[in-house]
Amino acid sequence: MTRMLVTGGAGFIGSNFIRYQLAAYPALEIVNFDKLTYAGNLDNLRGIDDARYSFVRGDIADADAIGPAVERCDVVVNFAAGSHVDRSILGADEFIETNVTGVYNLLEAARRHGAERVLLVSTDEVYGSIDEGSFKETDPVGPRNPYSASKAGGELLGLSYFHTFGVPVSISRGSNTYGPYQYPEKVLPLFTTNAIDNEPLPLYGDGRNVRDWLYVDDHCRGLDCVLRHGAPGEIYNIAGENERENIALTHRILELTGRGADLIRPVKDRPGHDRRYSIDASKLKALGWRPQMDWDEGIAATVRWYQENEWWWRKIKSGEFLEYYRRQYANR
Ligand code: NAD
Ligand code: DAU
Repeated sequence: MTRMLVTGGAGFIGSNFIRYQLAAYPALEIVNFDKLTYAGNLDNLRGIDDARYSFVRGDIADADAIGPAVERCDVVVNFAAGSHVDRSILGADEFIETNVTGVYNLLEAARRHGAERVLLVSTDEVYGSIDEGSFKETDPVGPRNPYSASKAGGELLGLSYFHTFGVPVSISRGSNTYGPYQYPEKVLPLFTTNAIDNEPLPLYGDGRNVRDWLYVDDHCRGLDCVLRHGAPGEIYNIAGENERENIALTHRILELTGRGADLIRPVKDRPGHDRRYSIDASKLKALGWRPQMDWDEGIAATVRWYQENEWWWRKIKSGEFLEYYRRQYANR
């Protein structure tokens, strides 16, 4: 593995993954191919000064653009996606274009070029909600919102390209990821930056929904393990093994930012809001991976990062973001 195409590498997890790969593998070259949507941000890659790294602006939904990029590389890791559930509820067009058509274009290019490996970075949301126990990779998918349905669509195409054409596709299903450089529409950076500004925290429904929190470095190491030790045609869960109710997460953020519970604003629930996500990561753990970040340490470090890096998020929380915020939260 010498040349890696990372699609969507200017987003949250992709940019952390690129930093991790460059540091871990001195002989590896990385091409970052990203459309730079509202969520793509070259500030996420600021400070990378390395001849082994290059950036191409492009859209995976544009077959003519993605083909030549795939041809330049041996391995493809796809992060590019519409990634926010609430935005997929406001309008799903871009989710279908990127998460289904874009993934199809990548697979077609990988088939033509004979790529060594394609890793489709997917999500535990494809399983849907589970009241008790944890989903295994052998369980059927049951996505319940346009985002997770589009991710499941991309996955199924990937598996079909493995079985039909022998394209060496692997799939990862990570849980809710947190850490530096996460766009502040997602609950953890949204609530943290709102709390810093003494603004209300809009908590959906009864606040008792459960998410499994995975530190971004642990997610990146999990993806690396799938790439290097996982098998083509296989799916791997990447769990944080750290389930929390949203209300508990909210109180922790308030404590760490020195704010009171009066900032919590209960708002109307998300339509089709999945109650609980939980996945079993035994399959990946058998390959040597395990989540390493302790929750108390991880959330404290993450909140501190947003406190110390206002330069990064203040410019995001303007313009398009404010328009989105109004559409999403006004009259709720
Ligand atoms: P993000 O929204 O922060 O980043 C997405 C990136 O993809 C952005 O840089 C954006 O510009 C780029 N992009 C979007 N459409 C594109 C297109 N058509 N062509 C090229 N680039 C495009 O997302 P994230 O949170 O970093 O998630 C990355 C991947 O991981 C996604 O596939 C997501 O489904 C998956 N995932 C995310 C989480 C999470 O908690 N954030 C958990 C599990 C899996
Ligand atoms: O589980 C993995 C998924 O985690 C990823 O595939 C997605 O890309 C990622 O966005 C995330 O999806 P969620 O919908 O779980 O994340 P979000 O941060 O939007 O919401 C987390 C929980 O917090 C969820 O139960 C809804 C709640 N929430 C969210 C927002 C934005 C609120 O209560 N208020 C909010 O304002």
